[in-house]
Amino acid sequence: MTHKSEKLWDGRFSEGTAKVVERFTSSISVDRRLYKHDIEGSIAHCRMLAKVGVIAEAEADTLVQGLETIRGEIERGEFSYSDSLEDIHMHVESRLNELVGNVARKLHTARSRNDQVALDTRMYLREESRNIIAGLFRLREVLVDLAEAHMDAAMPGYTHLQRAQPVLFSHHLMAYYEMFTRDAERLKDGLKRIEVMPLGSAALAGTTYPIDRAYTAELLHFPAVSSNSIDAVSDRDFILEFLSVASICMIHFSRFSEELILWSSAEFGFIELPDAFATGSSIMPQKKNPDVPELVRGKAGRVIGDLMNMLTLMKSLPLAYNRDMQEDKPPLFDAVDTLTACIEVYIPMLPKISLRKEVMARATEKGFLNATDMADYLANKGIPFREAHSHAGRAVAEAQNLGLELHNLNLEALRKFSDRIEADIFDILTTEGMINRRSSFGGTATANVKKAIAGAREAMSQEVKGKEKRWEKG
Ligand code: ARG
Repeated sequence: MTHKSEKLWDGRFSEGTAKVVERFTSSISVDRRLYKHDIEGSIAHCRMLAKVGVIAEAEADTLVQGLETIRGEIERGEFSYSDSLEDIHMHVESRLNELVGNVARKLHTARSRNDQVALDTRMYLREESRNIIAGLFRLREVLVDLAEAHMDAAMPGYTHLQRAQPVLFSHHLMAYYEMFTRDAERLKDGLKRIEVMPLGSAALAGTTYPIDRAYTAELLHFPAVSSNSIDAVSDRDFILEFLSVASICMIHFSRFSEELILWSSAEFGFIELPDAFATGSSIMPQKKNPDVPELVRGKAGRVIGDLMNMLTLMKSLPLAYNRDMQEDKPPLFDAVDTLTACIEVYIPMLPKISLRKEVMARATEKGFLNATDMADYLANKGIPFREAHSHAGRAVAEAQNLGLELHNLNLEALRKFSDRIEADIFDILTTEGMINRRSSFGGTATANVKKAIAGAREAMSQEVKGKEKRWEKG
């Protein structure tokens, strides 16, 4: 049942760890993903130890060489993993022992796995946040390109999922541009709190060695060093923040997906999804299902679950490190992977969606979307808005009884509701007129939307100058 294995921490133990406990406590299958950051962090730690004279330069060289060998082994798939070595930190250190001998035992001087795992996770999340920001940048470009390409498409805007007032399809798309831009801003802001270097906090209280934490931070390109060792090893706020931002971003994807699903239904018929992004039914030959948006919508639930998982995990944990915190990685990795996958699938899908512009346009002409404009027209002629509203409301009721729209009533019929109505009302009631008169800042008028698109392009070109990482995947 038990055996005494070569653990790096077993000095005070008289009995080996039970196999079932090794399996239960092991996190290697999950945290092996952090190998690159673990090795990079260890290399910086070695260099710092040599700089302050805790180890010799030659020893640091040996350690660094060994660490680089391990990186190569892992990348070539030549590295072997075992539950008995718990986690990625132990795996690297144990292999280093095999490779360079006893000097490997110096690597962990002035360090604990508590500050080490905090560092690795921060390095990982810095990289992934930048990838996601770059992915969102590409998605925002796609949205702006589409908005520009389809300036001629008008569609009903909805409230309560009832046709409300006509809007440009491009204006609707640019609403998503705004959402994803805010997501990217939130991620950038989160980076300020991710890029705080915790190494040197050791187990929880700091270390007796004369270490130079600022130097380690410099080597790892961290702009800041954590100020409280207890906080540094117990803080997972940066993960909570990331998961919150990821959840909000997934909400945006989910709302967009819901709209694509609705719009591609026969009931709406506004768009057709590309064949390459839809699937058929095994029983109903006519079906073309919007699986991609449906799955994106569904995956929002996972990421929200990841956030709940992490919040619940951290709640009431006493300071400082607790082993519970090892459970932070599955939800974090899952959220990163899920959000990344959604960005990756949306970028190529959106430009391939075809629009049924005539269906959208026809939809703007049914359902009294111009009733507000009739009321505005009367108000502009001096009738108090509430009264104008009631005249227009009666006109709607009358038209509805006749099975007509407001713009199908003739002048004589319209004048029954107010003698202020003249022939110019018919220009007011057109979709194009309604859209273009909504020229208040942020409104849907064509000129506004063009400006919004130009503004978005300008903002994005400034971001490129600010050296945003570019989207490389797909
Ligand atoms: N695998 C651990 C984790 O992810 C590393 C830290 C372990 N620290 C400890 N005191 N057992 O949290």
